[in-house]
Amino acid sequence: MRVINFNAGPAGLPLPALERARDEFIDFQGSGMSILEHSHRGKEYEGVHDEAIALLTRLLGLTDSHQILFLQGGASLQFAMVPMNFLPPGGSADYILTGTWSEKALDEAKVVGSPRVAGSSIGPDKRYTRIPRQAELELDPKAAYVHLTSNNTIFGTQWHAWPQVGAIPLVADMSSDFLWRPTDVSRFAFIYAGAQKNIGPSGVTVVIVRKDFMAKGRKDLPKILKYSTFAENNSLYNTPPTFAIYLMRNVLSWIDKQGGLTAMEKRNTAKAELLYGALDRMAGFYTAPVEKAARSTMNVVFRLPTEALDEEFVTAAKKARMVGLKGHRSAGGIRVSTYNAVSLENVQALVSFMESFAKSKG
Ligand SMILES: Cc1ncc(COP(=O)(O)O)c(C=O)c1O
Repeated sequence: MRVINFNAGPAGLPLPALERARDEFIDFQGSGMSILEHSHRGKEYEGVHDEAIALLTRLLGLTDSHQILFLQGGASLQFAMVPMNFLPPGGSADYILTGTWSEKALDEAKVVGSPRVAGSSIGPDKRYTRIPRQAELELDPKAAYVHLTSNNTIFGTQWHAWPQVGAIPLVADMSSDFLWRPTDVSRFAFIYAGAQKNIGPSGVTVVIVRKDFMAKGRKDLPKILKYSTFAENNSLYNTPPTFAIYLMRNVLSWIDKQGGLTAMEKRNTAKAELLYGALDRMAGFYTAPVEKAARSTMNVVFRLPTEALDEEFVTAAKKARMVGLKGHRSAGGIRVSTYNAVSLENVQALVSFMESFAKSKG
């Protein structure tokens, strides 16, 4: 029997996407072999690859101005590759800090050039519990780009309205909330997302790049580190992570069948309202540290009255077949990751558990 999976990533995947993989695993479409065994240059794999791109294009309503790329190396490689390609020697780029992952992106940019911090919501205790307001941002109009993290997986905050950045190209790490709702991609010069939270297994990173921005990228880099190499070869310059892309195709097809991103938004909003509503109702027992306007719909963080109770909560939840609730090792407490694959019923089950736990201990 499957558990209710609240893991932060790799995270739970929609059951129909896994069942489809199981059914097709040994003999893919009558070809006599698994998709894992097919050449990435063969028509079977290319069909899957192109379908994944077509599904993403349709779900996001992408136009010809942007191109989708599939890369490896996780979002962490993007922390380095973005400045390598787009931070010119002697130039500067702006970083908005909202958590650990944006700090890591900034650190990699420092290796390449001279990035600036254009805004930060770090608190005196080094925790991030909010998103900077527009008036707090000090943007450099000459910046090569502005980088932000759309959802902060560890601290449970999320941008709900994009900052105004004028003509500066906007770059976003959307690893933990990619495809959670419809997104106006035209606002972004560059988006990247590791698949293993909302759209698939680990091993593939989706990049969406505006073509005129990509054209400005540095040319004097090794081929494998240039976005243009992937763009010119439909992400088939070298062997792509074929199985990860195949499984992502299954997840994208599931999202499409559910009604696309509008349906995802409805489902994710209902889950977040239910969970935050419960936390607010039981505020005497559970403490949710994030400022209300910045609450993440994907990673909901809270604490119990003591660390011992946090631990007891996680252990008791596991007995009730709910896993993945322990907060990130750097943040402590509880974290509930409610990505697209988590259903409203899953969150209802957790809320009932939280109510009885609070009653028994409170
Ligand atoms: C927002 C965000 N960015 C980047 C990363 C790092 O991703 P990866 O492990 O794929 O390099 C994570 C991982 O949890 C993340 O949540």
